[in-house]
Amino acid sequence: MRNTIAVMNTKGGVGKSTLVLALAETLSAQFRKNVLIIDSDSQASISSMLLTAANLHRLQSEGLTIVDLLVASVLNNVAVEWPRFVVGGVSDVDEARTVYLIPSDMQLTLFEREVSKESLHARLRSSISALLGNVRGVFDVIFIDCPPGLSILTESWLREADFHFSPTKPDYVSTCGLEVFRRFKGLNPEMGFADNIGVCVNMKDGHSSVDADYHRWLFNNADNRCFSQPVPRTSALQHASQLSAVERSYVAKYPGESGAAIKAIAEELLSRLAAANLPGAKRPAAPSGPPSPAPIPTVTG
Ligand SMILES: Nc1ncnc2c1ncn2[C@@H]1O[C@H](COP(=O)(O)OP(=O)(O)OP(=O)(O)O)[C@@H](O)[C@H]1O
Ligand SMILES: [Mg+2]
Repeated sequence: MRNTIAVMNTKGGVGKSTLVLALAETLSAQFRKNVLIIDSDSQASISSMLLTAANLHRLQSEGLTIVDLLVASVLNNVAVEWPRFVVGGVSDVDEARTVYLIPSDMQLTLFEREVSKESLHARLRSSISALLGNVRGVFDVIFIDCPPGLSILTESWLREADFHFSPTKPDYVSTCGLEVFRRFKGLNPEMGFADNIGVCVNMKDGHSSVDADYHRWLFNNADNRCFSQPVPRTSALQHASQLSAVERSYVAKYPGESGAAIKAIAEELLSRLAAANLPGAKRPAAPSGPPSPAPIPTVTG
């Protein structure tokens, strides 16, 4: 089953972690899927959206994060029991009981420095490959929440995962972030790379003609495989990152247009995964040719 998805845009703040959270909770609560989130960001933002500060701190102190898993397998070259690092029951949505997390830690940056210093890139890549190979058969969908930028760890996920999913804001800088990512993908094709499962337009203002122009431009570029449904900018999604002290219902966390948009994207994601897993399914061709420049809206007033 090809079901591992690196969530990536080289631009920061486009909603990668927010969409990983919302899609994981939706796939669990509405579609009865087992979802694993691997937090690969040293800022641990998705970990803190899913765990209380006390629980996250406890897991970090007990050495139960992605950093500890990678230090053992890459730096110390010992076999790891990966299930020890998976935390269950992490969502504050009462119907989302099948969301699992491998949390992160600030020490991730130091780990990456050691990998570079000791030239352990190949071992990092084979550890990532082994981990993804193990979780593929256990969970229905696996999201890897990547930080912005192209670190050696992010590159390993992108080369070993089955797919990449790219949230973008409908604005100039975020679409440039996608183009940088596309160029990166075109380098060293012999090293392997995830297939594009799609670009998702996030934080779209329904009243903005500039947002509508960017959305149309992204949608019309077939290489993007843009999801039909954009995610609106809403206060519910803005506040979804704040873990509630008491469990709440799915509709309380994702009311109205927020829940409707995320459900539509989750459904499209599942159908794209199903199509990609059909026997004989063709892998999309790597993008070719120079990227088309993003439209620059006319400034008025
Ligand atoms: N659809 C949305 N509507 C309103 N606010 C949103 C939406 N999506 C994300 N946000 C807000 O945008 C900000 C950035 O979101 P988020 O942290 O998910 O981005 P990111 O791409 O993961 O950032 P980073 O690159 O730092 O990891 C957060 O304050 C979040 O609450
Ligand atoms: Mg993030």
